[in-house]
Amino acid sequence: MTKKLSIGILFGGRSSEHEASLASAASVLKHLKQDKFDLVPIGITQTGQWMTQTTPYELQQQMAVTTQIIDADMQESTQHTIVVDTPAPSSPLMQHPLSSVAPKVDVIFPLLHGTYGEDGKLQGLLEMIGIPYVGCGVLGGAISMDKEKTKQILRAAGLPVVDYKSYRRAELERNPEKVLDDIEKNFDYPCFVKPSNGGSSIGVSKVRSREELRQAAYLAANYDHKILIEKAIECREVECAILGNEDLQASVVGEVIIRDECDFYDYHAKYVEPSTKIIPALISDDLALEIQEQSIKAFRALDLTSLARFDFFLEKDTHNIYINEVNTLPSFTEDCMYPKLCEASGLAYPDLLERLIELAVESYEDRQRNSSSS
Ligand SMILES: Nc1ncnc2c1ncn2[C@@H]1O[C@H](COP(=O)(O)OP(=O)(O)O)[C@@H](O)[C@H]1O
Ligand SMILES: [Mg+2]
Repeated sequence: MTKKLSIGILFGGRSSEHEASLASAASVLKHLKQDKFDLVPIGITQTGQWMTQTTPYELQQQMAVTTQIIDADMQESTQHTIVVDTPAPSSPLMQHPLSSVAPKVDVIFPLLHGTYGEDGKLQGLLEMIGIPYVGCGVLGGAISMDKEKTKQILRAAGLPVVDYKSYRRAELERNPEKVLDDIEKNFDYPCFVKPSNGGSSIGVSKVRSREELRQAAYLAANYDHKILIEKAIECREVECAILGNEDLQASVVGEVIIRDECDFYDYHAKYVEPSTKIIPALISDDLALEIQEQSIKAFRALDLTSLARFDFFLEKDTHNIYINEVNTLPSFTEDCMYPKLCEASGLAYPDLLERLIELAVESYEDRQRNSSSS
């Protein structure tokens, strides 16, 4: 009988997407096949303390303000998780992240969205330790997390992105009127203001006046050292999932239907009252094919492996498409878009989780082939 792989499930973390991460992890813990895998939950608090012997639900309880997105059913399922005998640290807080768990874990499955999870930093740590992990590597994660850098690379690869301009937080703070003047010179209202590094629509605003612009710029600057201004596109929002390392599979295309009362696809529309998803999207076969092809091209241009979700704007009047952004660790509950797109393309959620673990081992083995310079 082959040995069961032991999977470290990482969740929580210091990003503004902490709570979304708890929901993703709860779902993965529930659905990973326990006859094949031992599960080691590893939580990271909002202040960055690493803990074993915890669950996403327990971390949710520690949050000061919470919308409680893990419901009672999910709480129950995470409590059935097998916790392997990771040595109990003398205090529940682990001083050296992963050092005591690493010898017991074969693969890390990070379910950390946003900064310190999706942006290459964690991936660097895992490579230093030498442990296989699910998801893309350091470079792909870091670039894809930064919306400005992503757009620069996609544009250089001939892929369509919305007109944008970035400003440094320091410029804004030093001379706000000059920055606001420059934005008004380059963009009409309404326009979008967002942190270059961010996610879950946190810090994103649609603005219609100079006063709203000022507030939105300072809001975005709370989350990153760079803010992006983008032309607002009147659009439908469609998404495509890519899975694989060398042989890439593009999923069917899905659409998020944003309710009329929402100004855009904001945090509320994502997590609190989740928007309806239509899979496959009601678009022509040609357009779906173009979206799939562009997603694969973008996946390669950004040096990604394993998985990524590509979010597109489909302009209502012109039917032009633009790649809005790339998520290398997209929200991952079974009802979220990435798993749903895979399911609609023939890969059920538990099988997707298993496939991602196989891809993690494959990537690790591929990296081991590189001769190091010393
Ligand atoms: N340029 C834009 N035109 C139209 N809608 C936009 C634009 N930029 C952002 N949005 C809206 O804001 C949402 C969140 O923006 P996005 O850039 O995807 O940030 P996040 O990484 O936080 O999801 C989008 O899904 C869309 O609804
Ligand atoms: Mg988005």
